[in-house]
Amino acid sequence: MAQRLRLEGLAYGGDYNPEQWPEEVWAEDVALMREAGVNLVSLGIFSWARLEPRPGEFDFGWLDRIIALLHEGGIRVDLATPTAAPPAWFQKAHPDVRPVTADGRVLGYGARQTYCPSSPEYAAAAARITRELVARYAGHPAVVLWHVHNEYGCHVARCYCERSAAAFRDWLRDRHKTVDALNEAWGTAFWGQRYDSFDEIDAPREAPTAVNPAQQLDFRRFSSDALLALYTAERDIIRAADPDVPVTTNFMAGLSDNLDYWSWAREVDLVATDHYLTAERADNQIGLALSADLTRSLAFGEPWLLMEHSTSAVNWQPRNIAKRPGEMARNSLAHVARGADGVMFFQWRASRAGAEKYHSAMLPHAGTDTRLWREVVDLGARLRELAPLRGSRVRAQVALVWDWESRWALELEYRPSVDLDFRERIDAYYERLWRAGITVDFVHPGADLSGYRLVVAPSMYVTRAAWAENLRAWVRSGGTLLTSYFTGIVDENDAVHPGGYPGALRDVLGVRAEEFLPLRRGETTTLVAPPRMDGAAAAPGTASRWAEDLALEGASAVLQHADGPAAGRPAVTRHAFGAGTAWYVATAPDTGTLDALLRAALADAGVHTPSGLPDGVERVRRVGADGRDREIVINHTLSDATVPGPEGPVSVPAGTVRVLASEPLESVGSPTDQ
Ligand code: GAL
Repeated sequence: MAQRLRLEGLAYGGDYNPEQWPEEVWAEDVALMREAGVNLVSLGIFSWARLEPRPGEFDFGWLDRIIALLHEGGIRVDLATPTAAPPAWFQKAHPDVRPVTADGRVLGYGARQTYCPSSPEYAAAAARITRELVARYAGHPAVVLWHVHNEYGCHVARCYCERSAAAFRDWLRDRHKTVDALNEAWGTAFWGQRYDSFDEIDAPREAPTAVNPAQQLDFRRFSSDALLALYTAERDIIRAADPDVPVTTNFMAGLSDNLDYWSWAREVDLVATDHYLTAERADNQIGLALSADLTRSLAFGEPWLLMEHSTSAVNWQPRNIAKRPGEMARNSLAHVARGADGVMFFQWRASRAGAEKYHSAMLPHAGTDTRLWREVVDLGARLRELAPLRGSRVRAQVALVWDWESRWALELEYRPSVDLDFRERIDAYYERLWRAGITVDFVHPGADLSGYRLVVAPSMYVTRAAWAENLRAWVRSGGTLLTSYFTGIVDENDAVHPGGYPGALRDVLGVRAEEFLPLRRGETTTLVAPPRMDGAAAAPGTASRWAEDLALEGASAVLQHADGPAAGRPAVTRHAFGAGTAWYVATAPDTGTLDALLRAALADAGVHTPSGLPDGVERVRRVGADGRDREIVINHTLSDATVPGPEGPVSVPAGTVRVLASEPLESVGSPTDQ
C-alpha cells in the first residue's frame, strides 16, 4: 500500500542541486520556488563527495542550512541518498569496484554510477553514508520522502567482473539448487556446455558466438536482483530510523528495460518514475502516455509521482528539440491525467557547468524574463487549481501484458526474425488503443485479471506454465484475450513448449502452427476474409513481418493470407473457449486492419469505444474518492477541437488542456505555435 506524501495538493518541483551554486543564490532559489508554486524538491542526489569529502569524515552543515531555508519557505524535501555518485576518494581506494563490460572493458570514473553492483566495498560505503544521512534528518519536518540513489541501472545495469560472476553463481545456487537442475534448465547438453559444478559457471561474457540463452536470461534476472538488493539495503536503513516517511527510488518506466520493475514495485512505498520524450518524434505524446500507464500499473493503480521530466530540451539526444509554448503543460497534465499526483523536473536551476549544462530547467540560463519561466509559474498555478485530483484513480477495462522477461529473451541472438521485437509490437497495439481513446493498464502475465474485460498480449514470448494457466482460466470464465504472434512460445528457461506453436496457449487459441514463416524485409501479404466467413476487417488489408503455417483446431479464421509463404493459411483467428473468446493475430496487420480487429475484440469484451474523439486529442478520466469524475482532455494538434462534454460539445483549442467535471473545471495551457 503506497503511503501518501505529507503534502497539500499535487507535488510540484524538481531536482535541486544547491551545491552547484554559491550560498547567496539559495535565498533567491527559495523565493523563486515560492513564486512558481514549488512545494517539493529532490535534494542531495549527487552530493556524496560534498557530504563525505574524505572517508568517514562528514560535512552536513551546508545541507542543514539549505534544508532549513527550504523549510522556512514552506518547501518540502525529497531527500536523496547520494549513492549514485561515489566520490573520487572511493574510486582511488577501491579500484576493483569499477564495472566491467561484457567485452572486458573496465569503466573509469569522472562521470557517475561507477560501481559494480556486487561490490561489498560499495555496499558498505553506501550503507555508511545512508546511515549518517538518515540519523541526521530522520524526523525532520521538511523531509516528506526519501529518494534512494538515482535511476538504478541507468548507466551500469550489468557488470561482468569476477566478483559479479561469483555473485551470479551464488544466485544460481539459490535458484536452481543443484548443478544437475541447472544443466537441465539451461539445456547445456547443447554445444557440450554441461557443468560439473557451479564453480565452473561464468558471467555471460562476450564469447565466440551466442552464449547459452537461458544463462543470459538468468544473468538479466540476477543483475536486476543485484541492484534491487542495494536498494532494499538502503531502504531498510531508512525505514528503521524514519518509519513514517515513505521511501522510493526513481524508475525509468517505459524507457529502460534493464530492471524487472514488477519486482521492484513491491519494494517502494510510493512509485516514482522519470520520463523523457523522444523529442524528434511528432507523436511522442503516445510514448509518454505508455510510460504513465505503465507507471500507474506498477503502482497497482495507486497514485504515483512523476519524479523527473524536462521543461524543454534535454542534452543527450542526437538533436535536442526544444518544447514549444504549451507543450510542457500538455506533457505535465498528460502524466497527471494518467494518475500522477505530482509533476517534477530535472532540474530546478540550469547548471552553468558540467555534462548537463545544455539541459533545460525550471529556471533557465536566461533567467526569469523568459517564456519558459512564465510557463513554469503558470503550471504551478494550474496544478494548485487541480489539487482536487489528488488521490483520484484511473480505471481501465483493457490490459496489455508487459513482462521484462519476454523483452530480455526477445533481445537474445538467433530468433526466427530480427523483426521480432517486444517493444515494437507493444507500441503497435498501444498506439491504436491510444488513438481510439481506450485507457489501458499494463499487467504482469501472472496478475489477477478478473478486473479486466479485454487482455491484449502482443509479445508474451516467455510463457511460464502458470501464466498460461492464468490466462486460460480467465478466458474460460468469460474474458476476451487477444494475442499476437510469438506469444506462448517458451518457458522461463527459453525452452520451447513442444507440440506445435504457440505451445502454451494452443488450446485456448484453438490453433496450431507447424512452422514460422517470417516475411522478408519490406515484404507484405494480402489479407482477405476467408470464403463464406465474416471478416472483422474491411478486406483486403495487408500484413508484414510475420506469417505462420497455421491450422485451425477449433478456432475460425477471421482473415487469411491471400498470397506469400502462408497463402491460404489463417492470419487472424477467433476461438470461443469456455465462456470467453480468444483471438490470435498471427501477423502484423496494417493499422486499418488492426483497428478493425481491436474494435471487434472490444465488442466481444463488451468494452465501450468512445466516439467523437478527434485524432490527436487525448481524453482520460480520473475517478475521485468523492465520487466526482474529472476528465482531462488534451489537444495535441494544431487545430481547435470539439469533444462531447457532459452538457454538450466542449471546445478544446489547439495545444491546450481542459479539465471537465460535471462542467468544465478550468482551462489550462496556451495555444501552441508548433
Ligand atoms: C535522468 C537523470 C538525471 C538527469 C536527467 C537528464 O536520467 O536521473 O539526473 O541526468 O536524466 O535528462
